[in-house]
This record gives sequence, structure tokens and C-alpha cells, in this order.
Amino acid sequence: MTTPSLPTQDELKTLVGQAALRYVTPGDIVGVGTGSTVNKFIEALATIKDQVRAAVSSSVASTERLRAIGIPVLDANEVEKLSVYVDGADEIDGHGYMVKGGGAALTREKIVAALAQRFVCIADASKLVPALGQFPLPVEVIPMAAQQITRRFTTLGGQATLRLKDGQPLVTDNGQHILDVRGLQITDPLGWESAINQWPGVVTVGIFAHQKASVCLLGTAQGVETIT
Ligand code: 5RP
Repeated sequence: MTTPSLPTQDELKTLVGQAALRYVTPGDIVGVGTGSTVNKFIEALATIKDQVRAAVSSSVASTERLRAIGIPVLDANEVEKLSVYVDGADEIDGHGYMVKGGGAALTREKIVAALAQRFVCIADASKLVPALGQFPLPVEVIPMAAQQITRRFTTLGGQATLRLKDGQPLVTDNGQHILDVRGLQITDPLGWESAINQWPGVVTVGIFAHQKASVCLLGTAQGVETIT
């Protein structure tokens, strides 16, 4: 007798990407996030593309994928309201608070999420955590402020490092840099998000607590679990 093999992380991402289609109403303009899980959602969107009026995207990468499947992409300034924004997360807790920005798109993700009535987080089960802080916290910063922001994190017990790409500082879609901060225990996500966002030179902190997930579709070995 053979035991059925457990789904891979990639298969779980496919599952939740497809499950998110149930939150897309025909004729909608859809808010689309960034990352490998969202790429599965974009693949699923391709199967209903005639029902999707347009999308607002949180990154150049997602915009290219959406256009490649024939979905028009609008500038966020052209849209007043979205019914749904679908995006992944690096960590999500039981309250729907998230850490995001592993793909460096956190600022645009917050901007698009802020237009949406509902934030649908799609994630494989490894992303669900009891408390935020295991994943290094991404913070988009103005380059000239990077060192002072690094020192501020040190006083909170965190070690910030500049994210590199091909040996050079990674440059975001907004022309800024990313600090990844290890060693933090984010005990008060709402308070931390507000406080860090006030530091001079911080463009966006990757804590999504004020804009938490309305619903999380979590891919597990047993199927898709819906957490509200
Ligand atoms: C990008 C993000 C992503 O949503 C997050 O990094 C999760 O990505 P993935 O689905 O590839 O695990 O915040 O800035």
C-alpha cells in the first residue's frame, strides 16, 4: 500500500490562488498583489479573464504578468474603490495581522490595499505564525536615512541589514532601498506600524496591521482553510 504524498508548497500556493477566484465578482476591477503565491492567482485569473474588467497592480512584475494574459492594468489614480485586493504574506497571525515585503513591493501593496473593501490574503500553511517577527521585517527607506533607521532598530533589539541584489543595494519600483530587520518580537503590530511609519526616512514598514487581512485562505494538507 502506498501512502499519498503530501502536497508541496507550490501545490498549496496553486490551491489558494485558485480559491481566491471566488472573491472576484464578474465585471470587477481586481487589486492584485505581488509574489509567487499571487503569480498562481494571476494564472487562475487567466481562466476567467473575460470576466475581469481590469486590475490595479502592486508591482511592475505583476503588471507584466497581468498584461501578458490580456488583463488591462489601470493606474491606482484612476480608481476610487476596489471590492477586493488579493495578495500573499510572509507571515500572518490569528488576527489577520501580517508581515509583508519579502518581494520588495510593500509600499505599492499598502497603496492598492487601501483602495479595497476586502483584503484576501492567500498563503500556504507555513506562513501562519503565533506571533509576528520570525521573518525579517522589510522596511522601505529613503537611502540617506538608512543608517539612522538602522540605529533606531538596534535600540528595539533588531538587527537591520540592507537588502542586496547582485551585490548592489536592491532598488524598489519606487527607487528606494529595503532594510530587513531580524530579531524583533512584534508584540503590538498596530502600535509598531504607527510608530515606525513616523520615523524620518521610512517610506513604509512591512507590518500590515491597520490594513490587515479581512480573510485568509490558507493552503494546508487538508485543503484550503478559510480564516476570518
Ligand atoms: C511582496 C510580498 C509577498 O506577498 C510576500 O513576500 C509573499 O510572497 P510569496 O507568495 O512569494 O511567498 O509581500 O512584497
